[in-house]
Amino acid sequence: MKIETLRVNGKRLRESLERMAEIGATPGGGVQRLTLTDEDRRARELFVSWLREIDCTVAVDRMGNIFGRRAGRDDGLPPVMSGSHIDSQPKGGRFDGILGVMGALEVLRTLHENRVRTERPVVVVNWTNEEGSRFSPAMVGSGVWAGALELDWAYARTDAAGKRLGDELARIGYLGEAPCRAFPVHSYHEYHIEQGPVLERERKTIGVPRGIVSLLWGDVHLTGEGNHAGTTPMNARHDALVAAAEMILALNGLPGRAGGDMVATVGEIRNRPNSRNIIPDGVDFTVDMRAWEGERLQAAWDRFCAEAGEIATRQGCAARLEKTWFVDRTPFDEVLVQRVLAAAADLGYSYMPWVSGAGHDAAYVSRLCPTAMIFVPSIGGRSHVEVETTPWDDCEAGCNVLLRCMLQSAMEP
Ligand code: HGY
Ligand code: MN
Ligand code: MN
Repeated sequence: MKIETLRVNGKRLRESLERMAEIGATPGGGVQRLTLTDEDRRARELFVSWLREIDCTVAVDRMGNIFGRRAGRDDGLPPVMSGSHIDSQPKGGRFDGILGVMGALEVLRTLHENRVRTERPVVVVNWTNEEGSRFSPAMVGSGVWAGALELDWAYARTDAAGKRLGDELARIGYLGEAPCRAFPVHSYHEYHIEQGPVLERERKTIGVPRGIVSLLWGDVHLTGEGNHAGTTPMNARHDALVAAAEMILALNGLPGRAGGDMVATVGEIRNRPNSRNIIPDGVDFTVDMRAWEGERLQAAWDRFCAEAGEIATRQGCAARLEKTWFVDRTPFDEVLVQRVLAAAADLGYSYMPWVSGAGHDAAYVSRLCPTAMIFVPSIGGRSHVEVETTPWDDCEAGCNVLLRCMLQSAMEP
């Protein structure tokens, strides 16, 4: 069987994605599979059952990362690995993350049914808590595995209800035995939707990111003075929500002033006591900033902190700002990037190099082994929303590129 003639089964890939989309399905056609909820558990169990169907051994580590392993002829060699994440955003889409797990599974299914013996073992992985929505920050499972985050620190992360990540991992039965620490890996490919508008606009089927931008997350805590909405003169107020509003607008204007590729978002805000006729006395909101150069991002955060301090003083509020997470930019392995470009060309797909504005587990894995990603278009450039979608033909095309790249690596002695 010449590996050049091998192709994945696009229909089976679609069926697996549609089956997974039933778990946590939302009325608007998306999914809610928040990390370590029962929906996440059910999807994990389905994934594990599919791994066992193709005779993979399954290991779960202490962060709940799931590794399905297919033996190679020389089984002692470092494996070729591919995967992504099963967890989703609160009202997320049916492709973000799960496409990379199902795509890697489809590669293993294709090898299995064609009885292809690879030189190296092949591993498909599901990383715990890539999204960072329920438990911040993002990419915690791969971060602990890569040694960038501490296990106990990760276990102690709490969600809005005060539940601990470690307790939830145990509750769903995925606090595994295997140590959560990097093992030797030959190469890692992550297959993912672009989550942006470029591939569709440029009419390209395959996107080949040269890397992932730098990511910075921060939290802002404001304290004002609660008082009666009717009796307090406007010039005698210390309104935490007004101060927050000014800060949010200042953050929103920062990328334009900084120039280049920078983006900044406030995605979450909590106002207290949140009653119509009480002047707010406390506000917490989140900051998500990204740019290719980490140094520019740090400088922009420092500038935001200075501006926020001035606003707080003027409004007579106290402000506490903390940078809670930072991942510097991730340039991917040039040899693997060239292989993805060549595989797309050889398979006859249109393609273009790109840079990922979205964070991925590949950012941490790339610290341990040569890493590259394969993107397919997001219709309308929409993602992290229920209408997120990608043409099925493109899903199949991206998976064929993944098959080709993984096989090339897996056949290397
Ligand atoms: O936030 C991100 O970029 C990723 O989709 N979790
Ligand atoms: Mn993702
Ligand atoms: Mn995501």
